Amino acid sequence: MTAARVLALGLLTAGSLAAQQPRSPSPTDRLIDALVARMTLEEKLGQLNLPSVDTRPSPQQLDLVRQGLVGGFLNLTGAAAARAAQHVAVTESRLHIPLLLGYDVIHGYRTIFPIPLAEAAAWDPAAAESTAHVAAREAAAAGVNWTFAPMVDIARDPRWGRIAEGSGEDSYLGSVLAAARVRGFQGSDLRATDAVLATAKHFAAYGAAEGGRDYNTVDLSERTLREIYLPPFRAAVDAGVGSIMTSFNEIAGVPSTANRWLVTTLLRGEWKYSGLVVSDWTAIAELQAHGVAGSRAEAGRLALAAGVDMDMTSGIYLDDLPALVRSGRIPVASVDRAVRRILRAKATLGLFDDPYHGASVEREAAVLLAAEHRALARRVAREAIVLLKNDGNLLPLAESAARHTIAVIGPLADDPGAALGAWLGHGDPRDVVTVLAGIRERAGAGVELRYAKGAGILDTSTAGFGDAVALARQAAVAVVVVGEAADMSGEAGSRSTLGLPGVQQQLLEAVQGTGTPVVLVLMSGRPLAVPWAAEHVSAILEAWALGVETGHAVADVLFGDVSPSGKLPVSVPRTVGQVPIYYNHKNTGRPPSQDKYTSKYIDVPSSPLFPFGYGLSYTTFGYSDLRLSAPRITPAETLRVTVTVTNTGPRSGTEVAQLYVRDEVASVTRPVRALAGFRRVALAPGEAQRVEFALTPRELGCYGPDLRFVVEPGRFRVFVGGSSAEGLEQKFEVTVAPRP
Ligand code: NOJ
Repeated sequence: MTAARVLALGLLTAGSLAAQQPRSPSPTDRLIDALVARMTLEEKLGQLNLPSVDTRPSPQQLDLVRQGLVGGFLNLTGAAAARAAQHVAVTESRLHIPLLLGYDVIHGYRTIFPIPLAEAAAWDPAAAESTAHVAAREAAAAGVNWTFAPMVDIARDPRWGRIAEGSGEDSYLGSVLAAARVRGFQGSDLRATDAVLATAKHFAAYGAAEGGRDYNTVDLSERTLREIYLPPFRAAVDAGVGSIMTSFNEIAGVPSTANRWLVTTLLRGEWKYSGLVVSDWTAIAELQAHGVAGSRAEAGRLALAAGVDMDMTSGIYLDDLPALVRSGRIPVASVDRAVRRILRAKATLGLFDDPYHGASVEREAAVLLAAEHRALARRVAREAIVLLKNDGNLLPLAESAARHTIAVIGPLADDPGAALGAWLGHGDPRDVVTVLAGIRERAGAGVELRYAKGAGILDTSTAGFGDAVALARQAAVAVVVVGEAADMSGEAGSRSTLGLPGVQQQLLEAVQGTGTPVVLVLMSGRPLAVPWAAEHVSAILEAWALGVETGHAVADVLFGDVSPSGKLPVSVPRTVGQVPIYYNHKNTGRPPSQDKYTSKYIDVPSSPLFPFGYGLSYTTFGYSDLRLSAPRITPAETLRVTVTVTNTGPRSGTEVAQLYVRDEVASVTRPVRALAGFRRVALAPGEAQRVEFALTPRELGCYGPDLRFVVEPGRFRVFVGGSSAEGLEQKFEVTVAPRP
């Protein structure tokens, strides 16, 4: 039993808090009450203080821990260092309270999985749950007990670099994956040594930054907030997420970190969320730059009043709130509420019993980059690859081509850093199988494999083109691997253009000019606008940043060991000028048509280059016999939708069957389509499977004029198919009249 537990139990048996609660409190409540009753104001505010370490706590920071002035650290990792800091907290501080140790475990700790956007392309919640679980297992072994993930921001603007960290543009897919990742990180019992506290972030609407520029202003209606940006947070809350991080941005003039309506009225009141809320990095201090607080103290007061429990790295709660509480400007009860939530998180993690949460140097060595973790990384990376084009079945590489010369060209072909992507945790480039290495391993000794970089990612020089072109000329096929460096997406990675950076477009054109068939492999943290490639290059794979197993996964797909099954979680624009472009747009009063006076651009088609939900396979799939369980349902009923999916091609493959719904007439405008279900269906050649979806009130309802969620009577259409731009169609009606 730890010192903290002993102390708290001692307090309880001494009866110091006997019968303070009206209803019978749980042992955890009693432990928390016992602690809160003993804490000085400084110790309370210390629990709300979340500083960052620079790899290790400084002697001054450890002193603060001894004084009970630190609730947790971020960026303190490694079992030895984490245990040392916890040891100080639980043995040398007056109340022996353990630390929360938070870290950005976004797509893996040491075993780096595909970036979340790529993982979303797999449309595989079970896989997302597994990768989050493995990430938690590794992180926990290394002393981390709290991850700042999943990032559940909806992103309709690919200029925004942080699109890489989320699940793309759709709320339904985003919600399913948010819940899966929360389950994966937290497991069924947070006390387990392979579980960490998850954080749904960034609350809210961070992805709606004007112009896609990071940290920028957001202004949107409550309807759009509720319909588009909030559902993944709600799904995370419903899945039991233990922590939520407020966003840097403002919404309609109110920065989230000072937004009482958002954090308290909606999140805690309406949604009944009872976990902790943490600010983003220095976001409390930034309330001054936003211009809603005239001093650090005022910023702290606003954030606490909004309901933000923990101050990440501003140091304001610790430094500035004591005076405000003592002068009566902040009620001590609001400090106590925040402290309780943090202590409860620690108790839920079992830290009062095992402050080390199972972390040990031995476990860390055994668990990090374990063989089964790499195997999972390879499987998910394969699923995340999206085949965008495959003219003349250039892919998979025919045995004949593969037996001759393969030219591998491009700055991303042998770039392990780009493969890890943004937020690489403790990922190590030396762990990465690059595309070149993966192809080399798979092609074997009989194939002549030649590599030329051609140019750097951001180069302006074309000096390397000659070698690349010469190589391509002699080859049976050229695999051109181009795209973005890891730091061109992620935080502060916004771009104003969406094409290939540097001279990579010219490099691609030069290689294509040789007449040798080209397979374009794109690596990027966002969808890239590549209209020239879409028109001229025979085969295109979107390979994002796939993590440590990038090269194996790409080779598995290129050589046909697996058939690609990824589907776009985001629309690919033709040009940055189309942004924002997303599939679930409104119809407008003048939907685009041949008529001039309709909603469109005069210089680019209205459709995206590749639509949401799109992705090819090496086989083909047919949809037939779409049936509904009833032509009419009442608002409270569930409609069953069934369809037959058939593998109509020559190879095994997996299709992601997608269900979309359209509410034809409602009291407020509705999107032309909204995703309402999906299934991964693995089929052998010729095999068919009946697939069933359930349309519940949740998918059929909308926020009415009074912003209350309601299923309105009226006509609906459903579409089932392989992307948002196709599918079989049926109609049904929601009616309040009794059924005939
Ligand atoms: C700032 C980022 O916005 C957030 O996502 C991250 O968790 C924190 N920094 C901590 O690193």
